[in-house]
Amino acid sequence: ARGSKIIAMGHYQPARVLTNDDLARMVDTSDEWIRDRVGIVTRRIADNETVADMAAAAAGKALAASGLSSADIDLVAVATCSSVDRCPNVATRVAAKLSISSPAAYDINTACSGYEYALATVDHAIRAGAATNALVIGAEKLSDVTDWTDRSSCVLFGDGAGAAVVTAVGDDEEPGIGPVLWGSAPEKSDVITIEGWRPYIQQSGQTVFRWATVSLPILAEKACAAAGLTPKDLAAFVPHQANLRIIEPLARKLGVENAVVAKDIIESGNTSAASVPLALSKLVERREVPAGSPVLLFGFGGGLTYAGQVIRC
Ligand code: ACO
Repeated sequence: ARGSKIIAMGHYQPARVLTNDDLARMVDTSDEWIRDRVGIVTRRIADNETVADMAAAAAGKALAASGLSSADIDLVAVATCSSVDRCPNVATRVAAKLSISSPAAYDINTACSGYEYALATVDHAIRAGAATNALVIGAEKLSDVTDWTDRSSCVLFGDGAGAAVVTAVGDDEEPGIGPVLWGSAPEKSDVITIEGWRPYIQQSGQTVFRWATVSLPILAEKACAAAGLTPKDLAAFVPHQANLRIIEPLARKLGVENAVVAKDIIESGNTSAASVPLALSKLVERREVPAGSPVLLFGFGGGLTYAGQVIRC
């Protein structure tokens, strides 16, 4: 194949809404502090749903919207860092739930940049002829790995999933997934952790904040340039939804003057690898991105890792 493109999207969020006032009853915090420092107003928290349940719900919607059937899917890739089971992976569980009979099925863990890594590996697999129709899913149940007594972290996270159906593009069509710009800063690998001995998200917030606001604008610009574009050409910018106080300066420094900037953080919190597909699926659903126009996806987080690419859908 010449490349690949997203032909449909879907998302799923648990019904339970956790407000800032709810959190203020659990730890010493306030609606004002959270809105001011992070920009989050609500987040969704799973009750009985697992990572695989949410992933399958989002993927099922994307599949239904695509016009393809389970029988057409030959690859399932799931980006997640919060699945509590080491085996089986989430991707095979999703395949079982959606009756996809024999797909290649793998999980990717690069924390909050997972979705962009997954999209890139799937695009590469399709270009190499190893797959034709793929489900690419970002799904997280961060409430399972959140220390609900730690005010510095529990106010930040939420649960949910977003998914896309990605299909091979023939010689007569323009590819819809551009080249990936990916990498990491492994000297900072201890800055965000969910460690086996204490399986809660721990982070040095200010180190991440500095990295995000100083280094990321340059990297996001490179991701744009990899597609032969400048930030001014973008119709939408969908960065990882970590903090509104990161998203806004990042968009400003990048100079995405003509772009819709995703701010799903306000209603969904930080859902790690699910945040970009969740936000993108909502923009597409609300028709805020003109069909075929360039959208920059840009993920960053634990590792520290980052990845971004321009897509058209
Ligand atoms: N409510 C009230 N006060 C709080 C809270 C809270 N929820 N949390 C911390 N504080 C207090 C601290 O105790 C501290 O008080 P002190 O000055 O008396 O010591 C004060 O607020 C400032 O704390 P900081 O940690 O310096 O707060 P900061 O302004 O840096 O904001 C935040 C913290 C929101 C985490 C910010 O650093 C940030 O967004 N960093 C980036 C996070 C990120 O992007 N992570 C990547 C994703 S990780 C993942 O997705 C798995």
